[in-house]
Amino acid sequence: MEKIKVGILGATGMVGQRFIQLLENHPWFEISELAASERSAEKPYGEAVYGRWKLETPIPTKVTSMMVKECKPNLDCRMVFSALDASIAGPVEEEFAKAGYVVSSNSRNHRMDEDVPLLIPEVNADHTASIEQQKKKYDGRGYIVTNPNCSTIGLVLAVAPLHKKYGIKKIIVTTMQALSGAGFPGVASLDIIDNVIPFIGGEEGKMESESLKLLGKVEGGKFVFADIKVSASCNRVNVKDGHLESVSIKLEKKPAKDELILTLKEFNPLKELNLPSSPPQPIIVKEDENRPQPRYDRDLGKGMACVVGRIRECPVLDYKFTILSHNTIRGAAGAAILNAEYLKVKELL
Ligand SMILES: NC(=O)c1ccc[n+]([C@@H]2O[C@H](COP(=O)([O-])OP(=O)(O)OC[C@H]3O[C@@H](n4cnc5c(N)ncnc54)[C@H](OP(=O)(O)O)[C@@H]3O)[C@@H](O)[C@H]2O)c1
Repeated sequence: MEKIKVGILGATGMVGQRFIQLLENHPWFEISELAASERSAEKPYGEAVYGRWKLETPIPTKVTSMMVKECKPNLDCRMVFSALDASIAGPVEEEFAKAGYVVSSNSRNHRMDEDVPLLIPEVNADHTASIEQQKKKYDGRGYIVTNPNCSTIGLVLAVAPLHKKYGIKKIIVTTMQALSGAGFPGVASLDIIDNVIPFIGGEEGKMESESLKLLGKVEGGKFVFADIKVSASCNRVNVKDGHLESVSIKLEKKPAKDELILTLKEFNPLKELNLPSSPPQPIIVKEDENRPQPRYDRDLGKGMACVVGRIRECPVLDYKFTILSHNTIRGAAGAAILNAEYLKVKELL
């Protein structure tokens, strides 16, 4: 099978590097273009990221000599993955869609647009219906698909099967978010050593609004948001990767605890599609009383699984539990790649 050519916008940043790592040896996609700001453009990739490659695996040899370009829609590829800084992503992604490219974006700019799917294929694959509206708007083959914020995705993946089966009325979530979520250089070391920062700008609003779009429906070609009350409190903690979240939920129908656990374990709606980035189990339930923990559990399912543990009765709402998801894999590059794989098997590429 001939591989589909893909480009990466924002290829030099934290998420861009993750795209490069995850797409090395991808069975369906091949990196043909790398783009970033004019600071990096016209340099070989190895030189553009000299001293700032931040992953434990080396830069793939195939990309070190590739020339970084500016983010202009003249790239030789069918699709672009966007890991652009939010200050610039909005108009750049639109330009690419107008020029006929499929854009799979990590940035927040278009997530809440009324014709842009905010997609987790296991949760709301039906939201891809709005792609046709975008193709008409852009008068061609181009469109934008987004993946959720890195803390929203873990929460929604874990509660989606519960919402489907029992109906969720309320969610209270407190996050402990990793440093890599802030990009590089992120939070100053002297601010985070021996400390927890109880504020991440804009994060609580994103969790509270994106969750409702994701758990909502498509009716008459429009997204109808879920009728759930969500309250989020977001904290930055001294962990490199992996967002941990303490969650309490109130349900319409409260099942027995064993049944709720089984519902989480059996959730696997993409199983038959065999997508390369789809984990064997999207939700892994940990039985040990002190798990999940970022350092030990974030790489389960190659960083694409949502790990749930400490499931117990909540004396205020119905149940409470702890969630862990890898913020730069399932929460960013891995999510956008999974979205693209889903689009491919549905012949939307
Ligand atoms: N980090 C996470 O866990 C995470 C999770 C989910 C979503 N996101 C979102 O993903 C995006 C990237 O995050 P990040 O952490 O990778 O950020 P980052 O490390 O700061 O990287 C930003 C990228 O954008 C490029 N860029 C900046 N200004 C530009 C301009 N004017 N024109 C073209 N390119 C420009 C940079 O290129 P240069 O190197 O040339 O400056 C770099 O490649 C953000 O929108 C972020 O909110 C991040």
